[in-house]
Amino acid sequence: MTGAKAEKTKNSSTSKASDKPGVAKQKLITINIMGKPHKVPADATIMGAIEYAGHQIIRGAGCREGYCGACATIYRLPGDYKIQTGLACMTMVEEGMSLAQVPYVPGEKAIYDIEKLKPNVTAIQEMYPSVFRCVACNTCTKSCPQGLQVMDYVQAAKRGDIAMVMDLSFDCVVCGLCMLRCPAEITQPLVGIMAKRLYGRYLRKDSPELALRVKAVEEGAYNAEYAELMSMKREALSKLYYARDSE
Ligand code: SF4
Ligand code: SF4
Ligand code: FES
Repeated sequence: MTGAKAEKTKNSSTSKASDKPGVAKQKLITINIMGKPHKVPADATIMGAIEYAGHQIIRGAGCREGYCGACATIYRLPGDYKIQTGLACMTMVEEGMSLAQVPYVPGEKAIYDIEKLKPNVTAIQEMYPSVFRCVACNTCTKSCPQGLQVMDYVQAAKRGDIAMVMDLSFDCVVCGLCMLRCPAEITQPLVGIMAKRLYGRYLRKDSPELALRVKAVEEGAYNAEYAELMSMKREALSKLYYARDSE
């Protein structure tokens, strides 16, 4: 988010869409964005509210759908001493919320040659020895907007159970909120990434179905479907995307 406010638009806090004739009145609530109060729609996400207040998000937004992890946010609610964490694109505003975006959490990424590592505890000891500082406080798990069992995958890393680390960290979006809150200053998402690479290199089972599917693609079995998708208008494509079967 930029420090300075972008030029005022019809959506700014002083000139609201709901003030205009013919535009339905919206319920507004007050939140504090980077220490400054703003009236924003009660049904907005944090990201929507930041933009409604006139800020332009330059760093700290990507997919806007909860996948990329770019929009890590910390906030407090009135009367609650706890620092809460969330993704700005997926977390709704609440009256009196006081928030700041955290678009990047620094962490030292280990540099390694995957061919020289083995999928065992030695790789963890050598590349991410910080995991052995874990005090099992579970703060990382409570901070994770993806609902991952972060502490459990750190414990699995300590045991050298690479498959378990891969499995438990699979849906990590690398928002960095767990490592921001960890009292032992562990870089959990980076450990998860290394485990996924080790798993892919050494432990992954061969998939005969994948080979068949690649062969079918190469032989043009899906060319007609691709052509149909490429000819569709954005709205129709979007409708189809959201109606798809997902895991
Ligand atoms: S494990 Fe950490 S970095 Fe990954 S999504 Fe959860 S809080 Fe974010
Ligand atoms: S926050 Fe850090 S110290 Fe606490 S359980 Fe998670 S990894 Fe361990
Ligand atoms: S913008 Fe991608 S997760 Fe929020």
